[in-house]
Amino acid sequence: MRVLGIETSCDETGVAVFDTENGLLAHHLFSQIDLHALYGGVVPELASRDHVRKLVPLIRDTLAESGLELTDLDGVAYTAGPGLVGALLVGAGVARSVAWSLGVPAVGVHHMEGHLLAPLLEPEAQERLKPPFVALLVSGGHTQLIHVRGIGDYELLGDTLDDAAGEAFDKTAKLMGLPYPGGPLLAQLALEGTAGRFKFTRPMTDRPGLQFSFSGLKTQVLMAWQQSDQTAQTQRDIARGFEEAVVDTLAMKCERALDAADCDTLVVAGGVGANRNLRARLQQLMSERDGQVHFPRPAFCTDNGAMIAYAGALRLLAGQRQGPEITVQPRWDM
Ligand code: KG4
Ligand code: ZN
Repeated sequence: MRVLGIETSCDETGVAVFDTENGLLAHHLFSQIDLHALYGGVVPELASRDHVRKLVPLIRDTLAESGLELTDLDGVAYTAGPGLVGALLVGAGVARSVAWSLGVPAVGVHHMEGHLLAPLLEPEAQERLKPPFVALLVSGGHTQLIHVRGIGDYELLGDTLDDAAGEAFDKTAKLMGLPYPGGPLLAQLALEGTAGRFKFTRPMTDRPGLQFSFSGLKTQVLMAWQQSDQTAQTQRDIARGFEEAVVDTLAMKCERALDAADCDTLVVAGGVGANRNLRARLQQLMSERDGQVHFPRPAFCTDNGAMIAYAGALRLLAGQRQGPEITVQPRWDM
């Protein structure tokens, strides 16, 4: 089955073709970062308009690269939520129309299920990675620990009470004057920061439980930054201290979740999953526990069409179909 995947939930237009027999055939991504950078954050109306401009050419390019014609497709998958309503509607409208015109089924995919299954796009994971496992989903909108008992059988173990991990990276970067999108830049600075010069708390690790809270950490960074000499090196050192606090907190909660779910496999997905220190720490944790950890390749940690094509292909294979109406769910629990 050859499935076209379309992702337009936020500020990236992602398109891919996944073949259930031959794997990923092609994928293309257009990031709107330059468009929103002027405003210091995503402007929803501009995001929708840019998806309108980019989506159809991107579908053409992706199909050309895959060597397929539109009529070779057996199904279309699109992100139905959660996300920005206008942006989602662009993807849903195009996906439904393509499917209708070809007479093939369409299926709406939960964006976070796309992230969750992205590690399975890696050929070696398809052999080794089987549920049950614990997934850490860390993106700009989510910080969740999920017990994956099977594909589509998910139990939420822990969630954030306030900011998501990626949001904390972005807001912390912004308060130290870094341009949007600050998270990856902050991580870059942290690589050259001095470990241990700034020590921030590991929120909610002093009590049992799997909940997260990152907004207090951001306030601690603000105080440290305001009281500092604000040199470039201090900025790197604070970035390092912040990143270590987030990485430690996430690692501690992963350990607890693995114990609670009695699992020895961890899957990490979402934009923050591209963080080098987080990857190294979780790799170390899982080798100490004699378990396995799986990450998507860094390009598939952040938003992309491949994860949607893959998650959609699994759902279409399982017989799921969407009616002809064009609906999206900007807020949607997985
Ligand atoms: O999954 P994603 O692309 O979009 C959402 O669904 O939110 O995640 C984007 C988030 C942003 O908050 C960004 O700052 C963060 O992931 N991010 C990172 C890194 N790369 C992206 N955070 C820390 N370190 C990184 N290397
Ligand atoms: Zn995402």
